[in-house]
Amino acid sequence: MRTETYERLTLDLDDRSYDILVGEGLVANAGSLVRPFIKQDRTFIITDENVAKHHLPTLETALKSKDIKSHTLILPSGEQTKSFRQLDHVIDFLLEHNIDRKSTLIAFGGGVIGDLAGFAAAVVMRGIDFIQIPTTLLSQVDSSVGGKTGINTARGKNLVGSFHQPKLVLADTGLLETLPRRELLAGYAEVVKYGLINDPQFFEWLEDKAGKVISGDISARTHAVLVSCAAKAKIVAQDEKESGARGLLNLGHTFGHALEAETGYNGSLLHGEAISIGMVMAHDLSAELGLCSEQDAKIVRAHFENIGLPISTDYVSSNALGGKKLEVSRLMDHMSRDKKVSNGRLTFVMTKGIGQAYLDNAVDMAVVSDFMKRFIA
Ligand code: GLY
Repeated sequence: MRTETYERLTLDLDDRSYDILVGEGLVANAGSLVRPFIKQDRTFIITDENVAKHHLPTLETALKSKDIKSHTLILPSGEQTKSFRQLDHVIDFLLEHNIDRKSTLIAFGGGVIGDLAGFAAAVVMRGIDFIQIPTTLLSQVDSSVGGKTGINTARGKNLVGSFHQPKLVLADTGLLETLPRRELLAGYAEVVKYGLINDPQFFEWLEDKAGKVISGDISARTHAVLVSCAAKAKIVAQDEKESGARGLLNLGHTFGHALEAETGYNGSLLHGEAISIGMVMAHDLSAELGLCSEQDAKIVRAHFENIGLPISTDYVSSNALGGKKLEVSRLMDHMSRDKKVSNGRLTFVMTKGIGQAYLDNAVDMAVVSDFMKRFIA
């Protein structure tokens, strides 16, 4: 068994507080790490085909070594799995194995599995405990922390869901070794986001160490995940249900979600790729409006470009739309259906510079539309 070396953070939410462990070898030691958080000697693992292939035996062996029985459901990989159909499948599997209110579910996968399994845990038996073991960079630094769970509907992403906090998060950075480079880069976009929101020093560190984080330097990777989780935990502790500060985590997401919606979520544009372009747009728009310096917008653009993330909507056109240009009116339409619309106004995350993001609900949509025409041209 590999030795575990990990750091521990706490997300402070009174009686729903929980630890986030970050480091290598956590899955191989999951039996002893999970044991204090379960109320019976069995768990239910929800995972997907890719994760099962690479890492499921390690998790099952680790649980078994501490006399914890596991029932495992392996689902197809990909965004299509975040559906009512698969939710029904998960719940049926849990009921078939006589789940009860003391049972614990383990979400073992990326954002899709975490969101789906977390939502199943939120609703089955009116809510049971669950543990997140995120296996992608994106889920380690974002979706596994903070309790957002849910599924997609034909009318859009994450429109059905619940806030349901896990009891523990195990972010095993050793698992990232098997992650394809494209997925790593997509997760990295969420890492940069924390620097851009309110941590210019972290952004500086990333300017120097981005290559190491991506190429697999374990200490750089662990530091990046740790700082990201700490930043997210701090924001969620202040504003669990997103009535204020948590909205900052949507930097680049309003533009990014509109781009994703245009592609039909078929894998041709990953979420992290969409928000990379979205964060460039947020900085460019802020610079155009004189809120942030042109220089900062340029630095942000160069950072994403140098690491190999897309910075232009041409990437969406060529990868997802067979070369067809995006239509601003369609993007505006997607934005108007965003969950962040309230009383007909959309809250944008704008910025005064690197590490100085803020929420702005006074951005004129006609200005946004003109800006997008220039950005897309
Ligand atoms: N991914 C944004 C949030 O958890 O609020």
